[in-house]
Parts: sequence; C-alpha cells; structure tokens
Amino acid sequence: MSTTTLGVIGTGMVGLGTARRAVDAGLNVVLSNSRGPETLAGPVAELGRRARAATPAEAASAGDLVIAAVPLAAHERLPRAELAGRTVIDPMNYAPHSDFEMPELDSNELTSSELVQRHLADARVVKALHNIGPRQLMELFRPAGAPDRTALPLSGDDPDAKKEVADLLDALGFDAVDLGALADSWRSEPNTPLYALPYVGQPPSGLTVREFVAWVQQASGVPVPAARVEELAAAAVRGPAGFRM
Ligand SMILES: NC(=O)c1ccc[n+]([C@@H]2O[C@H](COP(=O)([O-])OP(=O)(O)OC[C@H]3O[C@@H](n4cnc5c(N)ncnc54)[C@H](OP(=O)(O)O)[C@@H]3O)[C@@H](O)[C@H]2O)c1
Repeated sequence: MSTTTLGVIGTGMVGLGTARRAVDAGLNVVLSNSRGPETLAGPVAELGRRARAATPAEAASAGDLVIAAVPLAAHERLPRAELAGRTVIDPMNYAPHSDFEMPELDSNELTSSELVQRHLADARVVKALHNIGPRQLMELFRPAGAPDRTALPLSGDDPDAKKEVADLLDALGFDAVDLGALADSWRSEPNTPLYALPYVGQPPSGLTVREFVAWVQQASGVPVPAARVEELAAAAVRGPAGFRM
C-alpha cells in the first residue's frame, strides 16, 4: 500500500521540512509536537488543506507511515502503543550532551536506531531522512529516472517496512539505497562520510562546530547518485558515536 497520509511527530526543522515536501508531493500530513495541536495553527495554515494538527498519539494512529522527528533524548516519550504495528521512520541522530548520554551508544554496542527500535518494540523502525537537511530535501527532489536524482540511505530489520519507506522516498523525489539492518545504520550516522556533507559540498575551512552546523543548514543541495551513496557507505569506518557540539 502506498502512503497517502504521513503522520509527523515533531514539527521542528526536520518534521516540518518533510511535511512540506510531502504536501508538495500530494500527500496528506498530520502534524504533532510536544506542546499540543493548538500551537500548530501556523504550519497548518501554511501547508493548506492537506495538513491538520493532532496529538502525537493521533498522528501515530492516522499515518500510513509515521516520521518520529524528535530529539533522540525524547524517544522514550514517543507513543509506543499507537505506533505498535506501524512503520516508523527514524531520522534521529545522537548528539550527546550533559543531560543526555547513552553508554550503549558511546560504546557502539547499539546504533541509535536500535535504541529507538528497543523502545518501539512492536513497531518496524526504518532509519532514513537523518543524513540530509530540510533545505537540501526541498531542493534535491527530482522525478523518477532523472539523471541528477539524489539517493538517500535507509536501514531497517523488516524488508516490507524498508520497501514502504523506499516507496515514500520515491514519492518525495528520491532514490533509496538499502544499507542493511538497523545494526548497520552506523554507516550513515554522524562522523561517517555519508552524513550530511555529500549533499552540501565542501564547507569553508576554519569553522567552529556551531558555525559548521549553521553553514550546513543553509547550504544549497548537491545531487548524490545511488552509486556514490553505496561507495561512501562501504568506505565508512566505525568511530565514536554521536555528533558533539
Ligand atoms: N536539523 C537537521 O538538519 C537534522 C537533519 C537530520 C536529522 N535531524 C534529527 O532529526 C530530529 C529532529 O531534529 P530537528 O532539527 O527537527 O529538531 P527541532 O527543530 O528541535 O524540533 C524538534 C521537534 O520535536 C518535538 N518534540 C520534542 N519532544 C517531543 C515529544 N515528546 N513528543 C512530540 N514531539 C516532541 C518538538 O516539539 P515542540 O515544537 O513542541 O517543542 C519539536 O517540534 C533530531 O533527532 C535530529 O537529530 C536533524
């Protein structure tokens, strides 16, 4: 079944960016955040008749597919019961800080998506949309077969769920490259060659980490074909987990 309604939990940069692309591609979206549907009047008005606001639990129930675009530190507050049996896109990246450190991630015992899957034990988690920024997502979509179509990696333990997410990415204007199981998703996490940079090109030298993040957020998109995604994933070497500001 193809996705006609995308449930969106978390409507910050990634959730709203994905919702914008989804609406432009003809999908319906159900938006939710931590503060309640009444705080989403602005985005709903901007997105028009294909968008409505709800609670996270309602967005989880309403979506054919759901994207959980919240900080990883909030993953245990995702509505586990309503997400049971559903395919959940996990775009979350580990960014350790003083209030949130996960020894199992620091030791590389688990990938961040395995952690999310452990909480959402009855859902089918697929890691995707985590290594590209919203601005590049809005610029790089192309019709199927276009010579400069961009590919995005995905990882997951359930082949049917991965197919659903690949079909959604196709509808959004992207090819998908299957990197394997959630345990393999480190190949596209922060600190690997596939994370963010291929889609934006070379940043100026000498930036602080905060300046680098700001530069990436506003950089124009650079198309990345599937063969390059495969090459970069194969070249990845597992190092320290997480993006440290
Ligand atoms: N920014 C990027 O370029 C980028 C790219 C790829 C992946 N990511 C990853 O994607 C995720 C989202 O990033 P972002 O930049 O979009 O973050 P953000 O702008 O800070 O937005 C986070 C959203 O999550 C919501 N939220 C927090 N706790 C929640 C809860 N318990 N239930 C429901 N909603 C909750 C917030 O709600 P309120 O609005 O009510 O506060 C907010 O809408 C992160 O895990 C990040 O690592 C980010």
